[in-house]
Amino acid sequence: MSFINGRLLGAAAGIVMFAGPAAAADCEVVHWWTSGGEAAAVAEFAKALDATGEHKWVDGAIGGSGDTARPIIISRITGGQPPCATQFNPGKDADDLIDAGLLLDLSDLAKEEGWTDFVYPSTQLDPTCVRDGKVWCVPVNIHSAYWMWVNRKVYQDAGIDVPATWDDVIASTSTLRDNGIIPLSLAQGWPVSTLSDAIEVSVLGIPNFVKIYQDRDMDLVKGDLSRAVWEKLDEARKLVDSAEIVPQWNDAVGLVITGKAGTNVMGDWAQGEFAVAEQVAGDDYECLAGLGLNDVVSTGGDVFYFPKTDDPEITKAQLKLASLMISAPVQVAFNLKKGSMPIRQDVDLNAANACMKKGLAILANADNIVPNNTQMMQRETVYAIRDLRNEFFTNPDMSVDEAFEQFISLIESAPE
Ligand code: GAL
Repeated sequence: MSFINGRLLGAAAGIVMFAGPAAAADCEVVHWWTSGGEAAAVAEFAKALDATGEHKWVDGAIGGSGDTARPIIISRITGGQPPCATQFNPGKDADDLIDAGLLLDLSDLAKEEGWTDFVYPSTQLDPTCVRDGKVWCVPVNIHSAYWMWVNRKVYQDAGIDVPATWDDVIASTSTLRDNGIIPLSLAQGWPVSTLSDAIEVSVLGIPNFVKIYQDRDMDLVKGDLSRAVWEKLDEARKLVDSAEIVPQWNDAVGLVITGKAGTNVMGDWAQGEFAVAEQVAGDDYECLAGLGLNDVVSTGGDVFYFPKTDDPEITKAQLKLASLMISAPVQVAFNLKKGSMPIRQDVDLNAANACMKKGLAILANADNIVPNNTQMMQRETVYAIRDLRNEFFTNPDMSVDEAFEQFISLIESAPE
């Protein structure tokens, strides 16, 4: 069933309506960007598609997080009710859909537009969007998960220096508590992993992080350095009163924005929330990459896939949307609102704020780039480790040794 110029063409009923001038197609785009900052960012994509005058963006926002949206997206595509386009994260999540032949091959478009010439880091295209030598998704940003967001005024009002590192945050805990301020805000679920992963990278260093999650180096997994991660997580969980754990990531960021909490560890999508609150990096808040302990950026982010359709007008809309999403002007407009880094360096980022500039400077050195664990292992294992970490953070009776032993067996039994 297709809509052309807003009129349903009832081909099945043998009714052929004259479609008039250049046919247009509505493109339903599914994503999970529903917070203030995310909505402002995705509106830039919608604006760009609508501006073509040929195709119309139909917003398919799914509330919650990627954890809520992914199963819905996959069942729609496998169930024969696919959207025109859908968000995913870089990684292995769409591999089965690709192998089942359900997604549009973007290789010709990528070749025609020279995506390999400008996508940076190149890994955001290959291997992130390439499988069996073909291009299946368009990368739209780089989100690093490993940032710490600090409300400057909270520490200044408490008469202490604004933290420059994780260790400063630990040291300032009692002073903030004395002032009725939550030292570290935290949301339940995957945000516990975001905090834990950031701490883990700061303890292990990037090469060892990759050796554990990509190479499954069991000597390293079982070693003292790996155990030291859980000791540092133990330090972190002592900052958090489980009664203060909030439902959603943007609630935890909101506590820092409103000065109820001093610090939050979250991906740079948090910046979209500061922007909506009209807070300025360097004045109102600080952004500390790698918890201020080391220069790292993770190459998480977002990509869009386009389910195959037998409607040529939808296919035209899909290719147009993919081309717009990766184009320089749309990359700037979208990423400045999203708080993420663009996937190309040949863009004018004069409007970039201090945090994005800091991120881009770190990104410029490939040694500072750490792949997301979902780019190195199946999501089911990432989820199992996340569940272990959530239990560790909410169950003070779970010892470091108990958690460490469970971690070892999860890595040992992880499928490729
Ligand atoms: C991630 C996504 C980000 C951000 C975050 C919170 O999966 O890559 O763009 O929106 O979820 O919803």
